[in-house]
Amino acid sequence: MKILILGGNGYLGWPTSLFFSKQGHEVSIVDNFVKKKMELEFGFKPLIPTKTLHKRVDCWNKNQNNPINFYVGDLLNHRFIKDLLADIRPEVIVHYAEQPSAPYSMSNRERAIFTQQNNVMGNLNLLFAIKKNCPDAHLVKLGTLGEYGTPNIDIEEGWLNVEHNGRKDRMLYPKKPGSFYHLSKVHDSANIEFACRIWDLKCTDLNQGVVYGNFTPEIDLDFENLCTSFHYDEVFGTIINRFCTQSVANYPLTVYGTGNQKRGYINIIDTINCINLASTNPPKKGEFRVFNQFTDFKSLNEMAEVIIKSSKNLGIKAKAKKIQNPRKEMEEHYYNPKNTSLISLGLKPIKFNENTIEKDIKLITKYKKNIDQEYFMPTVKWEI
Ligand SMILES: NC(=O)c1ccc[n+]([C@@H]2O[C@H](COP(=O)([O-])OP(=O)(O)OC[C@H]3O[C@@H](n4cnc5c(N)ncnc54)[C@H](O)[C@@H]3O)[C@@H](O)[C@H]2O)c1
Repeated sequence: MKILILGGNGYLGWPTSLFFSKQGHEVSIVDNFVKKKMELEFGFKPLIPTKTLHKRVDCWNKNQNNPINFYVGDLLNHRFIKDLLADIRPEVIVHYAEQPSAPYSMSNRERAIFTQQNNVMGNLNLLFAIKKNCPDAHLVKLGTLGEYGTPNIDIEEGWLNVEHNGRKDRMLYPKKPGSFYHLSKVHDSANIEFACRIWDLKCTDLNQGVVYGNFTPEIDLDFENLCTSFHYDEVFGTIINRFCTQSVANYPLTVYGTGNQKRGYINIIDTINCINLASTNPPKKGEFRVFNQFTDFKSLNEMAEVIIKSSKNLGIKAKAKKIQNPRKEMEEHYYNPKNTSLISLGLKPIKFNENTIEKDIKLITKYKKNIDQEYFMPTVKWEI
């Protein structure tokens, strides 16, 4: 397949690109490096030094016989993405290229607006470019499980059969997200569903849980030269990655509020497995298909407990500490999200447990001297 990975310099985009190249597909990457600018705004650095995209692609292309191409460009530049699609004519477009942090979007008005402009307008430019230059391409779009919020009913996969006043319809599942970032994904989903309906495009919208981990089989081929961006700070660090780093730093795991909030999680290897399953099993023309992409759901307290046990097995004494919740969210709630679609396509989930997380904790220990404890405590608050 000809695959275009948008956001291919990111935490998930880079290892996804390596995977598809290794499988023999024709891979092209797009990124505008805006994430680097966002990191600099807060003064945060990823834990593990990564080579520039140029060096990583060079290293891969020298050692593998299926080269990756890359393009520096911005989805906000419609001409760039339209012309690129005309040149490449991809069959699959994996769209990761968005501002991915809820705290970033909640830190002030400018960043809330940047998040929605970058994500919603970038996605709209992409939809118009697909319609014009490759209407048969399958758009595989990354959304988040957080789009649903924590409703008091079961969470279905994107759609809900509704009966109202004796009449029935299949509607987009009503979403109640918890940040301007998550809202940008809801707006994207509505725009994509509309584009599928009126222009006959085809899309898989992946409502993904929080990702953790560092290793993929392709990165493992040459970790030092190919590793991906790993954040542990309050703004860009996802919770398991942050908890593991806190444990290695002998810093209490910062559990927000009561810690009874439940969330969905997925290992980085399974993220790629899911993208592969979605890409190789495309929807029909005109179909807007939604999969919930997570493999475990647990409360923050349960996650912390697993990491504390795993650390203990490695001789690290870790503990959790409840701190004031900087977010405005329900701390006691019903939570039952469905995730049967990807499993029925063949996903064999990697379960989050003491053993699966050990390798990551060991790796973080190797880079312990890089940990800056000032990155841990939340400074971004939902109520300004
Ligand atoms: N990491 C997670 O836990 C997680 C969970 C659920 C959903 N997601 C979604 O998956 C996607 C990838 O997440 P990630 O963690 O790899 O994020 P990331 O920030 O590491 O990667 C995103 C990449 O996209 C690029 N980008 C952003 N806007 C762009 C634009 N307008 N034009 C071109 N490039 C642009 C950035 O420079 C960055 O390299 C995001 O859409 C995110 O919302 C991530």
